[in-house]
Amino acid sequence: MNIKTLNSVIYFGEEGWSFLNKSILKSNYTKLFVLVDSNTNNHCLPYFKSNVDFDFNLIVIKEGEKNKNIDTCNEIWKFLTNNGADRKSLMINLGGGVVTDIGGFTASVFKRGIDFINIPTSLLCMVDASVGGKTGIDFNLIKNQLGVFKEPVFTILDAFFLKTLNEREYKSGYSEMLKHGLIAEEKYFFKISSFIKREHVSHHIKKSLEIKSKIVKKDMNEFGFRKILNFGHTLGHAIETYFLLKDPKNALLHGEAISIGMVLESFLSTKYCGFNETDALLIKKTFSNIFPKIEFDKKSINEILNIVKHDKKNLDNNLNFVLLTKIGNSIWDVNVSEKSVLKSFEYYDS
Ligand SMILES: NC(=O)c1ccc[n+]([C@@H]2O[C@H](COP(=O)([O-])OP(=O)(O)OC[C@H]3O[C@@H](n4cnc5c(N)ncnc54)[C@H](O)[C@@H]3O)[C@@H](O)[C@H]2O)c1
Repeated sequence: MNIKTLNSVIYFGEEGWSFLNKSILKSNYTKLFVLVDSNTNNHCLPYFKSNVDFDFNLIVIKEGEKNKNIDTCNEIWKFLTNNGADRKSLMINLGGGVVTDIGGFTASVFKRGIDFINIPTSLLCMVDASVGGKTGIDFNLIKNQLGVFKEPVFTILDAFFLKTLNEREYKSGYSEMLKHGLIAEEKYFFKISSFIKREHVSHHIKKSLEIKSKIVKKDMNEFGFRKILNFGHTLGHAIETYFLLKDPKNALLHGEAISIGMVLESFLSTKYCGFNETDALLIKKTFSNIFPKIEFDKKSINEILNIVKHDKKNLDNNLNFVLLTKIGNSIWDVNVSEKSVLKSFEYYDS
């Protein structure tokens, strides 16, 4: 079974690899490039090679968010140019969200756009970053400041890659799966609210992808409905940025920060959208069972609030949030006061 997104398709496991091999054989691509980072080069490339029957040029970039920048793009574009890439070349992005974001972006711009295929290897990338057509890089200390909307030709999803992912990264991706349940499907949230180990996660990944694809199909360019995918992200993003600026070596992972954001924003939902307080507590407990608690003092909360004020989701200096009306249903562009945001941190701490 595959999943259709707006202009693309996600293929799973063996069917995916066979589709990839057949597509390459039938295609008239002039050159094939595979993009990996230093970790996926070690951990994922051998399995990739064991599944494909074509040759390719390998591009290796340094791992991590700190390298999702224009310097790495320059390296990729230089490599493509020096190795004879033309408009009919193909790029295969084999890695986590950093690789698919930067790979999608560099491919979309090179020679006004060459085809690319995503093969996500982290859980976060499988359930989130590799689908939906957002590509991009960080610029001037601002996350995802440069980018384009462009979907991959197709995506291959194989949960085998998760075997080598470390537990912290696995949990980070898991929080995005919980988010899919919270914003769109109550039954799914309750199915996965008790932490599921990677050995048993593959059919839940499919469910998450179905939810994300359905949302993206309705509003690819994020004019309205797609914003619900940002639940937990207004405060979560600001918390992520705060820790990154404070001490890059001890930064929070994206999903860790978003999980705090979801607890805070569940509280705000009780204040602004009639969200059930018992359900807000249940959400808090679900996340505290998976993620360690983080301490916030007054100074850090104020700094986080300042970052929120600069967030792209806040139009006209208002603090705009995606909030829950019930588990499985969310609304966007809810205007929230600063005072309530401060209260939400007290709630997280209690
Ligand atoms: N485009 C989108 O819609 C979208 C959505 C969500 C997040 N993102 C972006 O995705 C990025 C985060 O994604 P991520 O968490 O995958 O980050 P990542 O790509 O940095 O991967 C996390 C770490 O795991 C390593 N890794 C990946 N797969 C592995 C495997 N199978 N075995 C061992 N190590 C492995 C990577 O090398 C890296 O060190 C951020 O830049 C974020 O902005 C994009």
